Formats: sequence, C-alpha cells, structure tokens
Amino acid sequence: MELKQFFRADLSELSPYHVEQPDHCVKLDANESPFDLPNEILKEVLKEIGKLRFHRYPDPSSNRLRTAISGMINVDKDLVVVGNGSDELISYIFQIFAKSDVRAFFPSPTFSMYRIFAQVFGVPFTEIKLGSNFELVGETWQSYLDKYPKNLVFLAYPNNPTGNLFSENILHQILSRSDTILILDEAYFEFSGKSFLSLVHQHPNLIVTRTFSKAYGLAGIRCGYMVAHPDVVSEVNKVRMPYNLNRFSQAVAMLIIKYREILKPYVNSILEERKRVYDRLVAIDWCRPIPTDSNFILFQTSKPADQVFNKVLSHGVLIRNLSRPGLLENCLRVTIGTAEENDQFLHAITDDFGESV
Ligand SMILES: Cc1ncc(COP(=O)(O)O)c(C=O)c1O
Repeated sequence: MELKQFFRADLSELSPYHVEQPDHCVKLDANESPFDLPNEILKEVLKEIGKLRFHRYPDPSSNRLRTAISGMINVDKDLVVVGNGSDELISYIFQIFAKSDVRAFFPSPTFSMYRIFAQVFGVPFTEIKLGSNFELVGETWQSYLDKYPKNLVFLAYPNNPTGNLFSENILHQILSRSDTILILDEAYFEFSGKSFLSLVHQHPNLIVTRTFSKAYGLAGIRCGYMVAHPDVVSEVNKVRMPYNLNRFSQAVAMLIIKYREILKPYVNSILEERKRVYDRLVAIDWCRPIPTDSNFILFQTSKPADQVFNKVLSHGVLIRNLSRPGLLENCLRVTIGTAEENDQFLHAITDDFGESV
C-alpha cells in the first residue's frame, strides 16, 4: 500500500523540528536559563510530588495555576490560558483563526515556529524582511496589511534570534488597525522589562504569550501562558487538548510563582553578564554583536560562521550557528550563561583566532 497517497501534500516539504546536539560541556544554544531550580524550591517540589495523585487526570483548566498567574501579572483569571509551553498556545492561536480569508504575517528572521504552525494549519502567510538593523520597517508592514482583509501579525518582543525589541510606535500602529490581530510573544519579557500586557483590556485584538521556560528556568516542564480578550480565550478553550497541562507541571509552575523572589538574582546576573559578554564581543574586531534586550546575543562575524562555530565547539561550548544567505549571513547566537560558562565561551571565541579577552 502506498501510504503517501493519504498524506497531506502541503506537508511534504516540512521536516520535523530538529536541533543538532553535538557533544559539548557548556550549552549556550537554546536561550535556556543556566540556573536549575534552587534547592529551596526543589525541596518544595519533592514534597509536592509526594502529594500528587498520579492515577487521576489533572485539573482540566489548571484553575489554581491560572489564579496564581493572574495574581502575579495582575489580570483577571478569565483572560489567562495555560499550555505546554507557549508553543502549544501559539499553535492554538493559529488553529482558531485558520480560515481562508485570514493571512498571517511575521518578520524574517524570527522564531521558526510561526512559519511551521502556519504551514501545519494551512494558514497562508507572508514573511516580511526586517531592516538592516533588524528593525520593523513600518511602511512595508502597513502596505502589506492594507492588501488583505484579515491579518494575524506574530511578533516576538524581544525578537528571537535577533534579541532586539521592535518600535513601540509601529506596534501601536498595528494594534490600531481594525483588520488585524496582533500576537505579541513576550517569551523574553523578564529580560527586557517591556510589555504590552496592560493593553489587553483596551485592545481586544491583542494577544500576549509568555513562558516559564526562560527567566523562570523551567524549560523542562513545558509551561507557558497567554492573556487575551475573553472571546479569544473561549475560542482557544474549544481547541485546547483536554488536560493539556499535566499535574506535575501545574504544581511546579505554582511553586515557582510562589517563590519567584528567589529567582530575581538569577535574572539580574544574566543581565549583568549580558552586558559583559556584549562588551567583550564589541571589542573583537571581526565581530558585530547586535544590541539585545533578551538573554542571548546575536553576532555577525567577518570570518565564516562555520569556522567560528566549530572553533567554539572544539572548546566544548555549544552555540547556535544561524548563518544563511541574507540578513543572517555569518550570524551566530549565544545564550548568556553563568559567569564561568560565559568566560569559557569568550575564551573559546578568541583563543584559536589569536586574540585575547
Ligand atoms: C520567541 C519565542 N517564543 C516562544 C518560544 C517557546 O517557548 P516555550 O518553551 O514556552 O514553548 C521560544 C523558545 O525559544 C521563543 O524564542
């Protein structure tokens, strides 16, 4: 039997999400936190595990967790949905708006999942190139949005992999359009301190997504949340998997919210280290780091990116090689780690090229 005849032809070009993981000692490739759960919180997690009823389904709408999130960010619980990472919530957003007269827009380069979900859910899309400093070009965006009757705009704020925030002005212009829904992905908000969350009450066309995977150091439990108008929440709840967030993740996310003050020094350390690593990269004459508002730095090199990537890896440090023709030519991305990890990276990137740090 020819299985292929049953498969969707429009998925034939899509490959499974895959990230190369060559051997390494220092992992600075995935914008994760370098800090695991502090012992104080780990102890609470272990106590909590003992109380979990593994044979029962979890709370299907994660009520207690949503209440904790609503207290933390000061919005009504009915505006909050939680998911298996913000990835899952972004997929739901595509699902609820996937109809023939809706078009999705996102910048290039940006977070790869927007394109993947658009393809998976059959939403027509346009990728709009960022300017030479990785900024949104306002007129280009407006003229594209003018062409179609119903638009979904996906923007990561700050953007991944470039690390920068986009112009607030342009975001307001997009938000003021009655033909456009703006999905603002604030995965790195804790490192930028800039958010549009409070505007959700005024703008029913604004959806904000956030995650516990980055600043909260919980990439391993897959937990994110979105905040939106109750009508959007109600649509998302129609497509949401029953019991989408497992009991363990709900419990750990609640503990992290309860003890979030303990994590503040971690975020502060990443911000200090971000400045230090950035300044060191600026001092290397073949490197052009891009100013960043997140926990990673994109940098362009006048040496071939493959060569830089392999040299750094030969010192046991794994970063992300993003080089491809166009704006990201010879660009690499390094996540900010602990001070020791960053030293290892800085040593690796300069050592073999005969530079000192
Ligand atoms: C911009 C952006 N949004 C969302 C995500 C996914 O986050 P989560 O772990 O919550 O699915 C990432 C992860 O790298 C990201 O860079």
